[in-house]
Amino acid sequence: ALIGKGNFPHFMLKEIYEQPTVMGDALHALLNPWNQLVAMPPFPFDLTRVTKVTIIGCGTSYHAGLVAKYWFETVARIPTEVDIASEFRYRGADMPQGGLAVFISQSGETADTLAALAYARKQGQHIISIVNVAESSMARQSDVSLLTQAGPEIGVASTKAFTTQLTVLACLVIALAARRGTIDRETEQRLCRALTEVPSRSNDVLNHDQRLAEIARQVAEARDVLYLGRGTGYPIALEGALKLKEISYIHAEGYAAGEMKHGPIALIDENMPIIVIAPSDNLFDKTASNMQEVIARGGKVIFLSDKAGIEKLGDVAAATVELPEVDPFVAPILYTIPVQLLAYHVAVLKGTDVDQPRNLAKSVTVE
Ligand code: G6P
Repeated sequence: ALIGKGNFPHFMLKEIYEQPTVMGDALHALLNPWNQLVAMPPFPFDLTRVTKVTIIGCGTSYHAGLVAKYWFETVARIPTEVDIASEFRYRGADMPQGGLAVFISQSGETADTLAALAYARKQGQHIISIVNVAESSMARQSDVSLLTQAGPEIGVASTKAFTTQLTVLACLVIALAARRGTIDRETEQRLCRALTEVPSRSNDVLNHDQRLAEIARQVAEARDVLYLGRGTGYPIALEGALKLKEISYIHAEGYAAGEMKHGPIALIDENMPIIVIAPSDNLFDKTASNMQEVIARGGKVIFLSDKAGIEKLGDVAAATVELPEVDPFVAPILYTIPVQLLAYHVAVLKGTDVDQPRNLAKSVTVE
């Protein structure tokens, strides 16, 4: 079917706005709304015997894997490794018997990810893929394939594919944790409820679109932009930086907030916007203190947080966006939306080809 932009000027913006709906679709397929428990398809192997998880992807899909590592380790208590397909496939890593290998790909056709999958297969891993294309090569070559339900993604810079990947990964983690007994039924219900609320909270986040368009004016003038986050906020910092460089061609870097002292702090001056991803979770105070270090050096902080975080910090940032207060488990999903919108508006101000940025391909099927 022919896909149009509707009333949106670009596919990317349309796809950002579709996120509440498509995440709802992904949840509909994997959660049972009546008992608030996960409802995964049957697995042809025993999830309780999984000893290690290896997650592989490229680009934005790799970033989804990085978020999932925190979830697998903290919620399901399973040692988890994440790697970029083009590195992993050549490393000759030994993979443990009974290991689970999770491949994340919007297209299901990325050459390096497919090669890594073939390697994991030879290493006797159970293979799950998380893809957006049901009949893709990756889906066909997996033991279990979970669909992201994002619908066709046209913008080269991935948006709704990423947030639906996170949604599906969150469900997978809960399923694994429940079966391994690392969470009780009440916790499972709490996490499922938090996920169920993500579509409507995401709609609230979309209400900040105009505000982010204003903030984009400050960012559009920069030569370099730094994104900082901790915990699951760190991969979102990486993803925010990736979005910005892909479509606005401004150099951007995502960094773990605690690692900033070990390098990027040298770059900070009055011309450097620093986007701080800081939901009020157990790491908030640490991130806030990194932010103070940035402000002390004249950096222009754009602070993404919630009511509690903003109250704690006081009025010190150059710009603040107040996001809804949510369970920290789902915060990385919600905090993705403002970094997508920010990159989008900067690109529009720069006059770039937002949906088809130079030199990039939607799907990389050659090495
Ligand atoms: C390309 C696209 C990215 C995407 C990456 C991985 O670089 O431009 O948006 O994240 O490939 O693609 P996949 O289809 O495997 O998720």
